[in-house]
Amino acid sequence: LCRGFATSSHLRSAINNVTVIGGGLMGSGIAQVSAQIGNNVTLVDVTDEALQKSKSNIQTSVQRVSKKLYKDNPAEGEKFVSNTLGKLNFSLSLPDSVKDADLVVEAIVENINVKHKLFSEIDSVAPSKTIFASNTSSLSIQDIASVTSRKDRFIGLHFFNPVPVMKLLEIIRTAETSDETYNKAVEWGKAAGKVTITCKDTPGFVVNRLLVPFMGEAFKMLERGDATARDIDTAMKLGAGHPMGPFELADYVGHDTTYFILKGWSEKYPDVPQFQPTKTLKKLVDDGKLGVKTGEGIYSYKK
Ligand code: 3HC
Repeated sequence: LCRGFATSSHLRSAINNVTVIGGGLMGSGIAQVSAQIGNNVTLVDVTDEALQKSKSNIQTSVQRVSKKLYKDNPAEGEKFVSNTLGKLNFSLSLPDSVKDADLVVEAIVENINVKHKLFSEIDSVAPSKTIFASNTSSLSIQDIASVTSRKDRFIGLHFFNPVPVMKLLEIIRTAETSDETYNKAVEWGKAAGKVTITCKDTPGFVVNRLLVPFMGEAFKMLERGDATARDIDTAMKLGAGHPMGPFELADYVGHDTTYFILKGWSEKYPDVPQFQPTKTLKKLVDDGKLGVKTGEGIYSYKK
């Protein structure tokens, strides 16, 4: 199927009930792809407003997926949309939401203390079969898992934005992740239409370890005045075949996200120069110019 979209679980997985915690960009996308393959999905967040926003983002995105998959069969497309939306539940109660879960995927803020609090809370209420996963993009999976009593059933599942479109799923094993947990995660990832790769629990795993310093180098080029942002972006699109140039991508990911990642890494690994946030990045964050989501970053997105 095109671009990693999956319509039905032609590849069966032992995982049927999925709870996604955090309804932001990533969490909504993860909930959506799970629902698209027929999982019973519960999406949890802390306010009704947040859940409403996730719901409306998912509705828009499922329509886009459907339009692409069922170009020539709008009736099937409508069925796909209603089946997918019918698989989604929204909840404000964390303990209730994990009671029957086969898999819990956490996609909340990149803060180790907040993640610890969440995982210790659900560890005591989730059944022993439940696999816990984090979609962290920069923290250590082993660190996050340390507060639970199920380190063998803990794994990293790192998706990419936009989740319904990007084909890759990075699977991160810690030294304690069991083979059974790993195999179930791989099977589920494939059923969800993703190509999986396996990576050790290292900063940024594969993609962000290469992509974040790449964006950082682009900022340094801009600061030196080697070329304009537009020309750097054009160069990488047409000269290296990237779908977005480094600044378009940084605006798309959000400068706050990149800044948080780099801040954490530079504190933990002060000797790695590529992990130091650049002045321009810090200023964009200080000025609230976070990229596409705020209407301005390196470029303006105001209509
Ligand atoms: N939901 C569903 N479908 C979507 C979508 C979404 N959110 N966004 C885009 N699409 C679909 C569109 O409907 C469109 O379908 P069509 O071909 O039938 O028209 C197709 O995808 C292409 O979209 P667009 O025409 O709007 O634009 P592009 O062709 O430029 O594609 C893109 C957009 C897929 C985002 C592409 O530019 C791209 O691949 N960019 C790079 C993204 C990337 O690198 N992501 C990783 C970021 S790092 C990360 O996530 C890690 C984290 O930890 C920080």
